[in-house]
Amino acid sequence: MHRLLVCFALISLALTAPALAAQRVELTVDVAKAGAKIDRNIFGQFAEHLGHGIYDGIWVGPDSTIPNTRGIRKDVVAALRALQVPNIRWPGGCFADEYHWRNGIGRERVLTLNPNWGGVTEPNTFGTHEFMDFLDQIGSDAYVSINLGSGTPREAAEWLDYMTTAQATTLEQERAANGHPSPYKVGYLGIGNESWDCGGNMTPDYYLSQLKIYTRFVRNFNPARQGNQQMLKIAVGPGGDGPEWTEWTETIMKAYQNRHWSWDINGLSMHSYTVVRWPPAFASVGFGEAEYSQILKATLGMEDLINKHSAIMDKYDPQKGVALVVDEWGAWYKPLPGTNPAFLVQQNSLRDAILAALNLNIFARHAARVRGANIAQMVNVLQAMIMTDKEKMVLTPTYYVFKMYVPFQDAAFVPVAFDAGTYTHGNISLPRLDAVAAKDRAGKLWLAITNLDPNQPIEIETGLAGITAKSATGQTLTAPQVDSVNTFDAPHTVVPKVVSVEVQGGKLGLTLEPKSVTVISVEE
Ligand code: AHR
Repeated sequence: MHRLLVCFALISLALTAPALAAQRVELTVDVAKAGAKIDRNIFGQFAEHLGHGIYDGIWVGPDSTIPNTRGIRKDVVAALRALQVPNIRWPGGCFADEYHWRNGIGRERVLTLNPNWGGVTEPNTFGTHEFMDFLDQIGSDAYVSINLGSGTPREAAEWLDYMTTAQATTLEQERAANGHPSPYKVGYLGIGNESWDCGGNMTPDYYLSQLKIYTRFVRNFNPARQGNQQMLKIAVGPGGDGPEWTEWTETIMKAYQNRHWSWDINGLSMHSYTVVRWPPAFASVGFGEAEYSQILKATLGMEDLINKHSAIMDKYDPQKGVALVVDEWGAWYKPLPGTNPAFLVQQNSLRDAILAALNLNIFARHAARVRGANIAQMVNVLQAMIMTDKEKMVLTPTYYVFKMYVPFQDAAFVPVAFDAGTYTHGNISLPRLDAVAAKDRAGKLWLAITNLDPNQPIEIETGLAGITAKSATGQTLTAPQVDSVNTFDAPHTVVPKVVSVEVQGGKLGLTLEPKSVTVISVEE
């Protein structure tokens, strides 16, 4: 019996040996082949009037004891400034198609309800001026979603007149009287939200007829913001990969190809959450390797979805004039116990950091077509960057990934070749590793590498073609468990730390910790 056991142990050792040997991965980065610009707008955020996303999360009011500038939390502003957030999509989401902008301007705000998100009272104290002030404070651009579901073209056109007109119109004067004489910049305009669902249950053809009307009449009126400064119009796009979504993309893109001078779009939106089952059933904390691997498997489906809809777009728009804008993405888990389920409160773990990196990598690889994305959502809702509770604030693991990826904003995509190998748990198999590289505007090379394997480190050797590396530095984000989180009481469980990178003979060598995201920069 004993001999049998020894024999069995030896056989298993022999079987596991090749797997251990496979923990080395060689990467080749070809800097000479730098390609499409990774549009900084793929790092966009989404702030909806939902739960504590706006109220408490951003807006506390000027009389609050929480430090604020004109009612906007100073701690949240400081944290977001560090992310160099390119744009914020607002006011929704489903909320946008019930939002009437006049309720949120002037001294007397109109109290309404928020039927989509728990039927709570909407005070409208955070309206157009407060949103624009918030953007100014963090240094970001406006991505405004207009109300196509329950509004009218006239209401939306007047909102744009109010926000963007420089000439003396009545609405321009009203804006000035409300405290802002100069026109606001609206960088991006969403023409409705999920018009196939909460935005009005429209068929593709019906939506198309509305789209033509809205893009005709809802204009950026500021003469200084025309030509290449123009406001970009984003049409509602698909929300999945079934035939109904193919039909949606086909309908809009075919019409775009045959468009008349009087209407136009610059982008097509796409929504895709990592959810696995609906209603959301996965816990955001207190899970193990099975749920870790299932969620990561699901999130990698973003690649196929983008390929599918890009192929349709390529058919009608080979010049890639229309950007694919993934303006709602991220993990959607079941609400945290004890919270209002309509407020979509979930924890944010190391798993979410890895999920974020994988999606950002996918967007970067599709840089020529995917020129915008907005993670859902920025504060206190779904896969948030920041969580607040009264005066307390904590930065999530996802926040740190966005911070580590800042150098990739508007950098040129650089191809990386590697054989990822496979990490398997139960019946789930995933690539063990993922990597992207980019050359920033100053010419510096950056590399982001994710080790998906929660158990094994990976030794990396990176060959660099096109540059002679002298030194390299980096940061890595990992934590003891796949479900490790930052809390108000323990905010530093998942934070980046310095990683050491060896440079020898122009090659980079480093060890990636299990379940980690690493970003390194290379000095020539
Ligand atoms: O992000 C939450 C909701 O998800 C948005 O309001 C809606 O557009 C989507 O269904």
